[in-house]
Amino acid sequence: MSKKPMILILAAAAVLLFLLPAFSQEDIKQLADPAFGQAQRPAAVFDHDAHNEKAAIDGCLPCHHQGVEEGRFVEGDPVKCADCHEVKTAEGTPLMLAYHKQCEDCHLEKKKGPVTCGECHKRP
Ligand code: HEC
Ligand code: HEC
Ligand code: HEC
Ligand code: HEC
Repeated sequence: MSKKPMILILAAAAVLLFLLPAFSQEDIKQLADPAFGQAQRPAAVFDHDAHNEKAAIDGCLPCHHQGVEEGRFVEGDPVKCADCHEVKTAEGTPLMLAYHKQCEDCHLEKKKGPVTCGECHKRP
């Protein structure tokens, strides 16, 4: 291969990397995890940045983690929950429980935020 196409490929990759953050958390307004396949409920309301600002959540660790040590989350990159939590598993926390536990436990603890099915899984 001559050098020119290689340079073009590298340039395209650099542009993609630069553009990637444009499709990140700011764009999340609701959650409908494709890992569940055919959804039983409407998507859950979750405007990522607005929610976290309104809820005055400090940092990312209350939600994003890579494991649990001594009952506390260990810091981890913000990636998809389904990368680690399987829909059906006998080991650890299955995906639906992971979501429900994370969202509802905090709402219950803060006595703020929705805890009933229809408040999160809102029909559009
Ligand atoms: C209240 C919980 C919560 C907090 C706090 C939070 N996030 Fe998220 N974030 C989520 C959820 C839920 C998703 C969707 C995950 C999924 O689709 O599997 C997400 C998705 C993301 C994604 C997209 C990940 C992907 O690969 O699709 C990025 C990037 C992200 N968050 C960054 C951050 C950063 C940076 C912070 C801290 C400044 C933060 N988040 C704080 C809950 C949270
Ligand atoms: C890099 C892997 C990884 C990612 C990504 C991840 N988790 Fe976890 N999570 C774990 C591990 C490991 C545990 C501990 C074993 C278990 O309970 O499955 C855990 C435990 C949990 C628990 C149980 C906590 C407890 O104290 O019992 C909840 C709830 C949870 N995760 C929710 C989520 C949510 C929601 C997301 C996405 C925002 C997420 N996790 C993303 C690895 C991950
Ligand atoms: C660490 C705590 C915490 C976690 C985790 C959390 N929330 Fe919340 N949430 C709050 C608080 C606090 C409020 C109330 C904000 C207010 O109105 O002052 C709230 C409010 C909401 C509301 C009401 C509308 C809004 O944006 O204010 C929705 C919907 C919601 N949460 C969905 C979710 C979902 C879905 C998840 C899980 C992916 C989640 N929350 C995880 C703390 C949390
Ligand atoms: C605090 C918000 C919240 C509450 C309350 C809540 N859920 Fe969810 N639920 C979620 C989130 C977030 C997900 C993962 C995103 C998705 O795929 O909808 C989810 C996923 C699901 C899924 C798997 C996806 C699907 O649609 O098939 C089912 C089923 C479900 N929830 C049913 C319920 C039921 C039944 C209740 C009431 C007993 C309930 N949820 C209460 C936030 C919530």
